[in-house]
Amino acid sequence: MSHTACSYILDKLKAIENPVLGLSTGATPEGLYRYLIQSYQEKKVSFQNLKTFNLDEYINLDKNHPNSYFHYMQKRFFQYVDILEENQNLPNGKAENLKAECQAYEDKISQAGKIDLQVLGIGVNGHIGFNEPGTAFTSRTHVVTLDDCTRTANAKYFASLNEVPSKAITMGIKTIMESKEIVLLVTGRKKASALKRLLNGEVDEEFPASILKIHPNATIIADEKALIELS
Ligand code: PGA
Repeated sequence: MSHTACSYILDKLKAIENPVLGLSTGATPEGLYRYLIQSYQEKKVSFQNLKTFNLDEYINLDKNHPNSYFHYMQKRFFQYVDILEENQNLPNGKAENLKAECQAYEDKISQAGKIDLQVLGIGVNGHIGFNEPGTAFTSRTHVVTLDDCTRTANAKYFASLNEVPSKAITMGIKTIMESKEIVLLVTGRKKASALKRLLNGEVDEEFPASILKIHPNATIIADEKALIELS
């Protein structure tokens, strides 16, 4: 899955002069980042002209906290490649005025032009970014309260469930849908029901990823375990 995603994404980026790439975090894209780093080290690609926007960030975690998504991106990708620091964008979860931060993030995305390609993962509850079930399809970058199942899924990275932040900033569903292209990565048995519901179910705000069915250019790249519930 990661290798296929890497080749697919690099082919797209190479065809664009100053590409804008939307990025996700979590366990799903870790292999993708490893392949992207490898491609850079083998001099098959440069990221000097790349601008990136991450989907989300926890609120109230210092950016250098080992579980912040800022830290994740440095350690899994940015520090190993030639992407310029000023081109790496994540919401600031420590901003004093979170509402203003959300608007500023939207403005930065607009100023960059549209996101050429947005990489997404999916939560077991169908979330995309941190847009939990029930989020309006018209939402822009906003502050969210994380679902218990999301906090439980992410607790493995923290000392205890109590330490998992309860809030985050996430790109909104409308913001995500405005990306020119979307690549959804799905891996592992735990995601099989979500993938089945995505492919067979209705478009419904109770299952945020379902909106991708009406995106004009969305691709799913999944591994065999994630596909196990589909005949
Ligand atoms: P995961 O998270 O890659 O850690 O499973 C994906 C997501 O919740 O979007």
